[in-house]
Amino acid sequence: MIDQIKAARESALKRLAAAATSDDVRAVEIDVLGKKGTLTDLKTALGKLSTIEEKKQAGSALNEASATVADALAARLAELRRAERAVQLEIERVDLTEIMRRPKRGHAHVVTQAWQRLEDVFVGLGFQVAEGPEVETDWYNFEALNMPANHPARSMHDTFYVDHGSPGSTVLRTHTSPVQMRVMQTVAPPIYMIMPGRVFRNETTDATHLAVFHQIEGLVIDRGITLPDLAGTIEAFTKSFFGADFTSRLRPSYFPFTEPSAEFDIRTPSGEWLELGGSGMVHPNVLRAGGLDPEEWSGFAFGFGIDRMAKERHAINDLREMYSNDVRFLEQF
Ligand code: PHE
Repeated sequence: MIDQIKAARESALKRLAAAATSDDVRAVEIDVLGKKGTLTDLKTALGKLSTIEEKKQAGSALNEASATVADALAARLAELRRAERAVQLEIERVDLTEIMRRPKRGHAHVVTQAWQRLEDVFVGLGFQVAEGPEVETDWYNFEALNMPANHPARSMHDTFYVDHGSPGSTVLRTHTSPVQMRVMQTVAPPIYMIMPGRVFRNETTDATHLAVFHQIEGLVIDRGITLPDLAGTIEAFTKSFFGADFTSRLRPSYFPFTEPSAEFDIRTPSGEWLELGGSGMVHPNVLRAGGLDPEEWSGFAFGFGIDRMAKERHAINDLREMYSNDVRFLEQF
């Protein structure tokens, strides 16, 4: 009997040492200490021993073997669990330093956001988007727009000249209106187009003026277009860009390339009027310069500053702040 107990004990310890998973350990427990386990069976067999002395010896050997196997079981189980957990942790590991090193996600500049929103609103109204060059000829920027040399209106456009071609023939465009001409020359009417872009004026910058800024031009050419179409378009734009509680008005003005001409203002819900831009019916001379017959086609045009829109929308005090590239300022929008 003693030999049997020893054999059961040794085989159990050997199997435990070789156990690779906690399931292996549980299998040893069932086989040795379970209801039909080897040591359990031997305990039942104790009663069949003939002498008290034999029973005593075998009994204490059995108790010792059971305790040793139980201890070894617990120790091996703890060991394997630790290893299994380490593997699990390694699988689920997240490198936090990686997150800390990732650069902060940026966003579009406040003026770019205004530009994109303007495009979205006009595209929603059925307009297409076109762009033209920033360096223009005198013809596109002035002449074709009914502003021949020495025209007094030219003095309103403080022009940057580019040292190219004959003196004064190449300019940084002072407005987006030259793109009207480029569109008329390349697109057959009907035309429903907006033309956003960067423009340049040789003037001293202050809180409300920049030497480099952005405009968005609008041009509609079709049959039977009249002034109310302009007013209606400006009103539809105002409501969809600023909100239903805003409204707009046209105020008589003068531009060489439109006749009649009007400035347009918007009225905020608090009753304040803000000047937004210029507009008017495309002048017959401009239609002719664009290769269109004024007897057949008519249209309207408008233009306004994108930077100013961003300024009004976010109540920014000084236009120059938008170009100071101070992240603490730009992050707010
Ligand atoms: N180009 C004009 C400006 O820069 C604005 C304008 C555009 C006026 C179209 C009338 C029609 O001031």
